[in-house]
Amino acid sequence: MTLRLGDEAPNFEATTTEGVINFHKWLGDGWGVLFSHPADFTPVCTTELGMTAKLKDEFLYRNVKIIALSVDGIESHKAWINDINETQGTTVNFPIIADEDRKISELYDMIHPNADDKLTVRSVFIIGPDKKIKLMITYPASTGRNFKEILRVIDSLQLTAYHKVATPVNWENGEDCVIVPAVSDEEAEKAFPKGFKKVKPYLRLTPQPNL
Ligand code: BEZ
Repeated sequence: MTLRLGDEAPNFEATTTEGVINFHKWLGDGWGVLFSHPADFTPVCTTELGMTAKLKDEFLYRNVKIIALSVDGIESHKAWINDINETQGTTVNFPIIADEDRKISELYDMIHPNADDKLTVRSVFIIGPDKKIKLMITYPASTGRNFKEILRVIDSLQLTAYHKVATPVNWENGEDCVIVPAVSDEEAEKAFPKGFKKVKPYLRLTPQPNL
């Protein structure tokens, strides 16, 4: 199935390391990150899941629930979690989906046959409280993801969902934002009481409005 930004995140029932879940019910009213990895007991995946566990407070602060997925079985996931905890100095604190029949991987187009016809690639889906897909990223098996970048895009998504701004290149939380072109200068004066700098008519910078 081809998913696009703005589509509803398909719902599913899944067996996870924390029991059987209905994905939409599990998400509740908050934000979610669903991410796949190629296989249990592999080095890059071990570091990725360890880092995700260490960032628990950062995800909690942003009201984001995390859930991982691979096509390995539940006993494999559980055994691997012990290794992740031991080698990465953490405690895995989020569920891992056992997608042995690949139903969810196919629903989310996480298997890219020209890369590998059996294993999931490194997909990331960020889902908003409205259950719509806000962001998708795909990495190959050979490249571990940067979870600080995932936190950075969550900050941008959460900011731009509620304010008429966009975030410029390499933006980090706390830095100036750009006012979206649909907002006139007159509207901007009211909407952004901290003011704005007009570099060009289409390039207007304002301090981050939610601080
Ligand atoms: C890894 O996680 O290290 C990995 C998994 C599949 C292919 C290559 C690397």
